[in-house]
Amino acid sequence: MQIMINEIKNWIKEAAELIKKEIAKNDMTVDTKNGRRDLVTNVDKQVQDFLIEQINAFDPDAKILGEENGKDHLTDFSGRVFIIDPIDGTLNFVLEQENFCIMIAVYEEGQGKLGFIYNVMEDMLLWGGKEVGVFINEERLNTPPDLALKDGLVGMNSSMYRKNSYNAQVMAERSMGVRMSGCAGLEMIALIRGKHNAYVSSLAPWDYAAGSVMLEALGIKFSNINGKMLKFDGREHYIAATPTAYEEMMRLAEQAKS
Ligand code: IPD
Ligand code: CA
Ligand code: CA
Repeated sequence: MQIMINEIKNWIKEAAELIKKEIAKNDMTVDTKNGRRDLVTNVDKQVQDFLIEQINAFDPDAKILGEENGKDHLTDFSGRVFIIDPIDGTLNFVLEQENFCIMIAVYEEGQGKLGFIYNVMEDMLLWGGKEVGVFINEERLNTPPDLALKDGLVGMNSSMYRKNSYNAQVMAERSMGVRMSGCAGLEMIALIRGKHNAYVSSLAPWDYAAGSVMLEALGIKFSNINGKMLKFDGREHYIAATPTAYEEMMRLAEQAKS
């Protein structure tokens, strides 16, 4: 596993250099996918192609699920699967040139083994899993305190908040405050580090795969909004929180349905 960890770290660092060069060139192509806020750039595609090339060279039998270039669907999760989001927070990448991440997860026989989330412009890598522990760069992280909803900050999808989906506004009201970064990776990092105690959003598999591996290793609970396991197939409402906050938020989500 150590060899794979080192390999993936090297790919991420190389991909980050590629992204920084593209930012410096300042001539990226921006296209929309499903609506004016759903952006993809030539850099997203280039980074995903680079990562796929590395994965294929490292393990030609591995399967790959990735956001771009027609790799966004996978039905067979047997064996080793890499799940990649080449740039998470593309809107931030285009408009801010910061607050975006590279995310890679490794699953084996459907079980999360390793997760990597790299905040490119901050040079902050969160990585690890149940077998090796969770690290921020090379410093090991402990399980964050089990804060109740009222005692911490909640990361939230802005549209869910606006529409009060699943009582999102009530969750927000009961917490210490809401944060909206526009980047699932950054929200996961905040939760993993114990800076936030919850996260609610609508996410695709490549948005939650890497973070969930690390959350599980730290005893932070996560599921879809119905309390069921994630399907790794299309978008789902995702909730992750410290155990105490999770129970309260699930009760609120449940109440919203009745
Ligand atoms: C998006 C971001 C955003 C989340 C969206 C994702 P992308 O990822 O993580 O925070 O709310 O659901 O699609 O498209 O920039 O990779
Ligand atoms: Ca994403
Ligand atoms: Ca993306």
